[in-house]
Amino acid sequence: MPKDINGHLVPGIVGPERRIPRSIPRPPYVGRNEPPAYTGNNTYTAEEIEKIRAAGRIAAQAVQEVGKAIVPGVTTDELDAIGHEFVITHDAYPSTLGYRGYPKSLCSSINEVICHGIPDNTVLEEGDIVNIDITAYRDGFHGDTNYTFRVGEVSSEVNLLIERTQEALMRGIKAVAPGRQVNIIGRAIESYAKRFGYGVVRDFTGHGVGAAFHTGLIIPHYDSAPLFNDVIQPGMVFTIEPMLTLGTHEWDMWADDWTVTTRDKSITAQFEHTLVVTESGTDILTLP
Ligand code: MF3
Ligand code: CO
Ligand code: CO
Repeated sequence: MPKDINGHLVPGIVGPERRIPRSIPRPPYVGRNEPPAYTGNNTYTAEEIEKIRAAGRIAAQAVQEVGKAIVPGVTTDELDAIGHEFVITHDAYPSTLGYRGYPKSLCSSINEVICHGIPDNTVLEEGDIVNIDITAYRDGFHGDTNYTFRVGEVSSEVNLLIERTQEALMRGIKAVAPGRQVNIIGRAIESYAKRFGYGVVRDFTGHGVGAAFHTGLIIPHYDSAPLFNDVIQPGMVFTIEPMLTLGTHEWDMWADDWTVTTRDKSITAQFEHTLVVTESGTDILTLP
């Protein structure tokens, strides 16, 4: 009998909190229920952009480092340990740890998990896919990136979903230009995804990032016009992080209040970059 195309993940056991050296500055929300209100805007000076790029590079390198360890038999908590160590040894703080009560240093979202999967004792198996999402905070600024990895060999349908989700991110990035509204980004992503009949997740979005983890600026991945009409300006920094599915865009939340799955348990992939708007287009700030 062919393997069920849909996921069947169940929650594992979450391990104890990892330590952060006292010498590493914490973001302001750590130890609070929620972040202090962000009062700044979404545009940055050249000096600030280089700080976001430095944080973004650490996050991107950490994702790559975790990716090297992704093989059948590894647990997502073992992956969390690798990401955590990489970030702290580069004098940065893993932004998710203690963000609104999130307990780990990265998000590990397997198969039907759309986003915000919590690392635990779940063992990855041949044919699974897993998204690793890491945000690093250094020198007062956050950089946020994610990548979907294959565990061993995956089905051709899932392989195409991953390739096309990465292409959807690149098309969203190419749609960015000063003077356009941010809703152009989701229009580019959704029109590409619809060619293949994929679901486009609507309720989890890209966001302004930099001086805060989530600044309040929202970047939808679907065609939201005439809503989300913020005008794109040089110096603006935000993420684009499309989530595409082999089925519905509707979702369910696990009892942990974090793990978001597709409602039909269809497989879902995501890719994310943080970028800055330039006079002519964009510059990606989360390259390794
Ligand atoms: N890095 C995720 C994003 O792309 C946010 C994770 S928040 C967490 O926005 F608390 F779930 F970790
Ligand atoms: Co993000
Ligand atoms: Co992220």
